[in-house]
Amino acid sequence: MFICNSCGYKSVKWLGRCPMCGSWESFSEEKEVVSPELDKPSSSPVSLGQSEVLKRERIPTGIKELDKVLGGGLIRGEVVLVGGPPGVGKSTLLLEVSSHLTSKGKVLYVSAEESIEQINLRADRLRIFSDNLYLVNEDNLEEIYRHLKQGDFRFLVVDSIQVVYHPKISSPKGSVSQVKGCADFFVQIAKNEGIPVLIIGHVTKEGTIAGPKLLEHLVDCVLYFESETISTYRILRAVKNRFGPAGELAFFEMTSSGLKELANLADLFLPEKDRSIAGSCIVCVIEGIRPITLEIQALVSRASFGMVRRRSLGFDFNRFSLLVAIIEKRVKISLSSEDVFLNVGGGIKINDPAADLGACIAIISSYKDKIVPFSYVFLGEVGLAGEVRAVTNINLRLKELERSKLFKKVFVPQINVREVEKKNYRGIKIEEVTSLKEVLDRIW
Ligand code: TYD
Ligand code: MG
Repeated sequence: MFICNSCGYKSVKWLGRCPMCGSWESFSEEKEVVSPELDKPSSSPVSLGQSEVLKRERIPTGIKELDKVLGGGLIRGEVVLVGGPPGVGKSTLLLEVSSHLTSKGKVLYVSAEESIEQINLRADRLRIFSDNLYLVNEDNLEEIYRHLKQGDFRFLVVDSIQVVYHPKISSPKGSVSQVKGCADFFVQIAKNEGIPVLIIGHVTKEGTIAGPKLLEHLVDCVLYFESETISTYRILRAVKNRFGPAGELAFFEMTSSGLKELANLADLFLPEKDRSIAGSCIVCVIEGIRPITLEIQALVSRASFGMVRRRSLGFDFNRFSLLVAIIEKRVKISLSSEDVFLNVGGGIKINDPAADLGACIAIISSYKDKIVPFSYVFLGEVGLAGEVRAVTNINLRLKELERSKLFKKVFVPQINVREVEKKNYRGIKIEEVTSLKEVLDRIW
């Protein structure tokens, strides 16, 4: 059998490109195997009304931001997958969590990737000392299970799923069958022993090793750790959560002594107040359930020769290309011989379309070399006709802007204006807008 390393698609012959997920050269040959199973107690149906069975106690992880993403804490029998690119801080986060969890019981930290000395060094740096935290450098799943049984552990942490293997599965470590089989085994351990299991999974762009994507349906909760390359900010995003809200975000900063929680994001991503340059403007986006005010910067400069360059950092590239096309067509600004760069301040990645209007204004501001006053904020999605479309949760955004006391004028899509709850947000003047062109006429 040939299996796609990135999505698990099976084929009887080798394929250059996966018909399911579209990745290239992701197929490897594997023997199909059945996952090893634990002895399970026989099942019996339970009535939904028997609430004792369902009532689950939350175990706080000691990191408030993480608890929020998890929906209040860990649950007994829950399997959490923490995915992310190498070096983002997965091991650091889970080591810190482990140390907090020791107050609730013994923790087994399985590191198949790093030696005990390496983890000790890291623990030193994070100032973690605990007799209840046990480290083991083991990659054989049967051995790990034996340790877990013997030691009466209350928590299991696995670093990482790609380097452990089950001897009953004949495929090599890191292959689709191994990763799936092992994850399946961990899920059984969690349910049987009633302990939370935290699993680290690497994400690689090349798809050379089987990634967390194909485990998403097996586990209860999937958290992705993201960061823009050079930034010290880290974002933990819940993409799936059976026991809490999905889409919730947590913010961290990587410091020399580990990860620091950023519970209060107020004005963190804003530039200094009176800095006014062309090509910069302020937006308020909602990531997860939190409003974040940040700066979008654009740079438009004459292309020296040949191909023009288009780059975006922290902003979806396709969306950015679309906005450039909209500006050319609807505002009649020719960018065909200009390089255009777009950057989201603070090194974070945004997905909220409400930043569209701000991005357009930043690009036009840089092109015209005209300053947008710092006290202006732009909210709105921009449609293909150059119209400004409604955004979600307008009141949440306005409340956040009111709180920071830095802004005087907010451009709000017309459709949103009637949803505005308060008659007047203190110090803020609301400008009702319908199109990109209209916004431009009002600023300059
Ligand atoms: P790590 O947790 O090993 O990442 P992952 O397990 O996701 O691969 O984190 C590695 C990075 O974090 C590394 O580049 C060094 C940095 N780091 C700090 O800046 N401060 C610290 O206290 C620690 C432990 C790591
Ligand atoms: Mg690691």
